[in-house]
Amino acid sequence: MKTYLVTGAAGFIGANYVKYILAKYSDVKVVILDALTYAGNLGTIAKDIDNERCFFIKGDICNRDVVDGLFAEYRFDYVVNFAAESHVDRSIENPQLFLITNILGTQNLLDCARRAWVMGKDEQGYPTWRRGVRYHQVSTDEVYGSLGAEGYFTETTPLCPHSPYSASKTSADMFVMAYRDTYKMPVTITRCSNNYGPYHFPEKLIPLIIKNILEGKRLPVYGDGSNVRDWLYVEDHCKAIDLVVREGKEGEVYNVGGHNEKTNLEIVKLTIATIHRLMADNSEYRKILKKKVKDANGEISIDWINEDLITFVKDRLGHDQRYAIDPTKITNALGWRPETKFEVGIVKTIEWYLENQAWVEEVTSGDYQGYYEKMYGK
Ligand SMILES: NC(=O)c1ccc[n+]([C@@H]2O[C@H](COP(=O)([O-])OP(=O)(O)OC[C@H]3O[C@@H](n4cnc5c(N)ncnc54)[C@H](O)[C@@H]3O)[C@@H](O)[C@H]2O)c1
Repeated sequence: MKTYLVTGAAGFIGANYVKYILAKYSDVKVVILDALTYAGNLGTIAKDIDNERCFFIKGDICNRDVVDGLFAEYRFDYVVNFAAESHVDRSIENPQLFLITNILGTQNLLDCARRAWVMGKDEQGYPTWRRGVRYHQVSTDEVYGSLGAEGYFTETTPLCPHSPYSASKTSADMFVMAYRDTYKMPVTITRCSNNYGPYHFPEKLIPLIIKNILEGKRLPVYGDGSNVRDWLYVEDHCKAIDLVVREGKEGEVYNVGGHNEKTNLEIVKLTIATIHRLMADNSEYRKILKKKVKDANGEISIDWINEDLITFVKDRLGHDQRYAIDPTKITNALGWRPETKFEVGIVKTIEWYLENQAWVEEVTSGDYQGYYEKMYGK
């Protein structure tokens, strides 16, 4: 039996990861710690929490008493830290919140784990650790900065973050490595490219575009839409994290990416075309459209779902031009490779959103108001 502390698992990737490990292993216990910020939603994991294999605690990773209390109650083998402020645009508006959660929160988790897991000292004075424990930090390719038209990020690419978000994630990574070097703490880090898939909060590009199309709204694209990201289906990321937590070499960093570079404009056009195709093939999907334009026969028309909906908006400040991952290390060392082709993953993702409109309503109701709506109007 392995016991996990998984933080931030009421959010997008953490929730997918918990679902993945609960399905894959019968002998795991998972304790989720999540502050339920605007990005976290209990509904996302409600069916997974059974208080036998999966437990939920609402709390802040920065809170020492809360995290210490969990270490006192459970004998964790693994800590997997997803909890973060994750939206670059929000980091430009409020950098300090990113510093608090992403840096101080990570350091607090490291410290609580250290005090719970250290058994004694070796001859040189380094701490000795309980056997088999592992702290895993979920990081991002954004720590490497931006690429030109050529080349890829490898694990030895110098860290060169540009946004407050990526600066905070880089600092967190540096703390993880500092704990490795100073205390010989058993840690690993994965740095992944852009994820897409179910439960992605609808302020991020792909779910935002889906949501806006269903509502008949304009589709905002930053600058000229030429910024390149390397898109990976979320389940492939979860598989990579699982491999690294269980089999990755202590102290190592692994880059995770899909070899699937696309400009933002390509992503938006592909999303428009895929929704159009799915709507054309399925009259049930057409009923979901909130903008119900009727054709001459009184049927719901989808002719208006086209690239004319795209609106180019003022570019993000300091917008990184291109990210692209070289995943050779994790492929050679652990046999990981992306399994879901983008053409398949984008259809699965869009179908999931079409079939889970109640989830979208839930996470975007209440206190949350569409960020882009506030910025750019309806
Ligand atoms: N989304 C991506 O494409 C991507 C790519 C690479 C790495 N990452 C990293 O993966 C992790 C998860 O990203 P995501 O997209 O799922 O994020 P998300 O914003 O969807 O979820 C973040 C979760 O963390 C929780 N949280 C925030 N502050 C907290 C705090 N102080 N204490 C406890 N919980 C808190 C939120 O409630 C939410 O459930 C992040 O660390 C992010 O940097 C994301």
